[in-house]
Amino acid sequence: MSTPFDPCSLTLTEAMTGRPSPSPLQYAFAAKTGAHAGRGGTPPMTAGAARQQLSSLLAQSSASSQGRALYVHIPFCRVRCSFCNFFKYAASAELMANYFDLLLLDLERKAVQPWSQAQPFDAVYIGGGTPTDLTAAQIFTLGQRIQQCLPLADDCEITLEGRLNKFDDDKFASALKAGFNRFSFGVQSFDTQVRRAAKRLDDREPLLAQLKRLTASNAATIAIDLMYGLPHQTADSWQQDLEDTLSAGVDGVDLYQLIQFKGSGIERDVEKGRITQPMDSPQRALLYQQGSRYFAQHGLKQLSYCHWATSNKERSRYNSLAKSGAEILAVGAGAGGSLAGFGYMQPRDIEPWQQAIENNQWPVAMMMVKPANYLQDAALVGACDTGLLTPAQIGAARFRAAQPLFAKWQQHGLAKLNIQAGQDCVELTTAGKFWSVNMANGMLQYLNQNPQAVEACETAA
Ligand SMILES: C[S@@+](CC[C@H](N)C(=O)[O-])C[C@H]1O[C@@H](n2cnc3c(N)ncnc32)[C@H](O)[C@@H]1O
Ligand code: SF4
Repeated sequence: MSTPFDPCSLTLTEAMTGRPSPSPLQYAFAAKTGAHAGRGGTPPMTAGAARQQLSSLLAQSSASSQGRALYVHIPFCRVRCSFCNFFKYAASAELMANYFDLLLLDLERKAVQPWSQAQPFDAVYIGGGTPTDLTAAQIFTLGQRIQQCLPLADDCEITLEGRLNKFDDDKFASALKAGFNRFSFGVQSFDTQVRRAAKRLDDREPLLAQLKRLTASNAATIAIDLMYGLPHQTADSWQQDLEDTLSAGVDGVDLYQLIQFKGSGIERDVEKGRITQPMDSPQRALLYQQGSRYFAQHGLKQLSYCHWATSNKERSRYNSLAKSGAEILAVGAGAGGSLAGFGYMQPRDIEPWQQAIENNQWPVAMMMVKPANYLQDAALVGACDTGLLTPAQIGAARFRAAQPLFAKWQQHGLAKLNIQAGQDCVELTTAGKFWSVNMANGMLQYLNQNPQAVEACETAA
């Protein structure tokens, strides 16, 4: 029997609704609640149980309507950037060559499993670390092996991530020959002072020239990452970054807000008085708005709260698949995957990953069962990511049950509601998009803490 839905009994906290403020963009929430939105699952399984579970998942020829992707991790960088938490191993030719041989084994063992052959992959992402630090021959072999051993959709997006430094013509040609059709380069900023402080290689001019050469070839989709909130950045230098981005002719651009973490190079530089404290969240919000307005003025298409496309070539398919609950096969030390309602991580350290492969075991460090309605949650997170929520996307009952939350979002300047029969939707404002992760997490909390609202709306349907 369903419990009657009493709007007065709803739990609505500030973490869900944001708070009233004259500048919601800057102050609706105190801080971003994390890099990504989503609910955790059950406590992790034991290593033995995780290995068994992965065996049985890979033995099934099941297909998923959500689509699937391959993620391959390359945990090496030549330099540790001052803002970054992804650095794991200093790149050396020998270490990378050993890793590469094992990586191919990890890939090939997984590729022959029934699950891997059951459905074409829609996207492949080689991420890191800095995959462009692989040699031209390794880049070619990796791309070629993936094509040979896995079924790929005809329009599969195949991305190589990395940086422009030392990504020479030989590597670009080898990557194209091996089927890579998208490149995602971390630029962070074009400004030489900002770059040097962040320990980025190359000054503005050679970097821009290299990027322009690649885009002018028109041989693949080229996307870049920019960051806002880095030491020495100002509204003016940011404006120049935005203009440089368009002048470079890229197909896509991510704007990432600096997430400061304990023990970063930035923290140490501030402690040692080498730099002043970088800007706070309200100041960063203004840079987000500046970027968002500039791109809108220049006709870019906003694909997610942090990603824009300058042309139809850019689909950013891997990112949208990963955010909306697609299945992901993970290969390499430190790679994370998602299969049939289970989330898993491979060991971050090379040693245990290598040992597992050499012992013919699945290299799983952690596995957990996702919440029962994880696909609905993923649809909701994906909708907040794009800035548009509709009943078709997030489920009619959840959409109706969240009306009191939506009303608060509107009141707080975070969303605009359009409630008309047949066209209901909630569109996030620029402020709402800036706080997209908080809003997705807030809505998940709201649905969790008000199950009677969802139940009543399901019964009424
Ligand atoms: C895994 S990194 C790989 C990038 C590539 N190795 C490079 O050097 O540009 C991917 C992206 O994460 C972003 N990133 C890294 N650290 C970050 C931080 N602390 N806050 C926000 N974004 C960050 C950067 O924009 C970076 O391009
Ligand atoms: S930004 Fe790239 S190169 Fe720099 S430490 Fe992070 S992953 Fe490595």
